[in-house]
Amino acid sequence: MTEKKSESSGINKSLTSYGDPEFSKYIRRAFLASAGYDRDDLQRPIVGIADTSSDYNTCHRQMPEIIEAVKRGVLEAGGLPFVFPTLSLHEILMSPTTMLFRNLLAMVTEEMIRAQPMDAVVLVGGCDKTVPAQLMAAASVNLPAVSVVTGPMMTGSWQGQRLGACTDCRRFWGDHRAGKLDETQIAEVEQSLCTTAGTCMVMGSASTMACATEAMGMMLPGGATPPSGTGDRLRNAVASGRCAVDLTRNPRRPSDILTRASLLNGVTVLMAVGGSTNAIIHLAAIARRLGIDLSMDDFHEVAQRVPLLVDCKPAGSGYMEDLHRAGGVPVLLKQLEPLLDLSATTITGETLGQLLEHVPPAADWQSTIRSLDNPLGPTGALVTLRGSLAPDGAVIKAAAASAELMSHRGPAIVFESPEDAAERIDDPSLKITPDHVLVLRNAGPVAAGMPECGSLPIPRYLAEAGVRDMVRISDARMSGTAFGAVVLHCSPEAAIGGPLSLVRDGDMIELNVSQRRIDLLVDKAELERRRTEFVPPTLPDRGWQRLYAEHVTQAHQGADMDFLGATCKTLR
Ligand code: FES
Repeated sequence: MTEKKSESSGINKSLTSYGDPEFSKYIRRAFLASAGYDRDDLQRPIVGIADTSSDYNTCHRQMPEIIEAVKRGVLEAGGLPFVFPTLSLHEILMSPTTMLFRNLLAMVTEEMIRAQPMDAVVLVGGCDKTVPAQLMAAASVNLPAVSVVTGPMMTGSWQGQRLGACTDCRRFWGDHRAGKLDETQIAEVEQSLCTTAGTCMVMGSASTMACATEAMGMMLPGGATPPSGTGDRLRNAVASGRCAVDLTRNPRRPSDILTRASLLNGVTVLMAVGGSTNAIIHLAAIARRLGIDLSMDDFHEVAQRVPLLVDCKPAGSGYMEDLHRAGGVPVLLKQLEPLLDLSATTITGETLGQLLEHVPPAADWQSTIRSLDNPLGPTGALVTLRGSLAPDGAVIKAAAASAELMSHRGPAIVFESPEDAAERIDDPSLKITPDHVLVLRNAGPVAAGMPECGSLPIPRYLAEAGVRDMVRISDARMSGTAFGAVVLHCSPEAAIGGPLSLVRDGDMIELNVSQRRIDLLVDKAELERRRTEFVPPTLPDRGWQRLYAEHVTQAHQGADMDFLGATCKTLR
């Protein structure tokens, strides 16, 4: 079965510029003939498949099989699949942080989609920064796109305890630092945390963004939660390939799907799952690519009316496979129906409301997905803060923090950088007490690419004494799998002269989550005096890191490049 392609679609799209379009088409067909494609094949709609696999990316280990499944779906539906490489970002195997490369992956994906002939694209990602990067690219190119993820890992066990990456990684490491686990025991735990292919199996950044992507309509229903390596995961991939071909015939573009309504649906799910603080930055970046206003106050407004419904670590006690068995995101959306904009369009062609007509309510036998009248936790899982320490905003994951620290006043201990913190945090001469507020600066977008080092470890001597949580404040991020009274994303960051740069050891800091405040209790005249002493840090002077430091926006704007907003134009 073939279908006639127009002059500007299929293989005739994005022609190489030789000054003679007919020559460009002829020579393109000639080279593709060497790969076994005849003229008849090249009449089909073309679906590009963005590959983010790598030997360095264990979260994407099943990607070759998933991509074969997507290709099968494309071929079954009469399309022609072309797989193309982009970048692969693995959270644990990249230095200093994958966040430094999220925008690079977004740029590479955008440019490869623009530069190569395709009528639709399937974006295969999974590990934390890959899905937001691919959505940012899709938003900018505005070619029909389907998101597919590799899916979460299955859980493992140690000494009868069920466990998984990486909330339990942190819990056991904390116990090891406190002297409760010896070297042999922590080595055994290490071998039990990541037992299969796939992404972290708690509600970390990868799972959060997968759930939000499905809620926003850019992924087929049920696509966020099937574990890696399962038939459910592969059938989603086949169906996504078929869907992409359908999108070439009935185009529904990212700009039709990623609207303010669908983004707010994504924020609603973010709050209901007790998701990662990182999602706030990613959703802000996607909105900025589309010219959609999505402010910190929008996140706050949604957080106020959406309770915690999903029992998944770190805010709950379960894992992603439990959420999948309980019905996944479709059943969660059914529970959230009164709080969603059901008119939002999805890649299926149906509105969210139409899709939910086919979804049953949560089953009685499960307790992972709760109802609005019997939630797992209160509203306000993520709280956006403002105050003299963060005039443009900061965030705390209240659902995964100690309740007694949500109103706290204490003296600051300041660390100048992540390296400084690593060197001195356990130094007994600092005489840190549980009441101190640990301040980390120069870890924001411009200074350091915003690594996930905001959840500073509890000083060893306090951990050994049983202290499990303290107030920590920074311009860094933290892993979605982490927990604690950790104030993140202080904006503007210290490196560009934000108030965090003015804090000195011993200054009193006040956190008041119910008032949404984070304040430095130092008088204005003294702060102005300190401002005159500000010396910006030295920034990278070559390559991508220089470009990044010169052009990255602040956290509340999505930490995207300033030249990639909705109004920035390309050659094509
Ligand atoms: Fe890839 Fe956690 S390291 S999702």
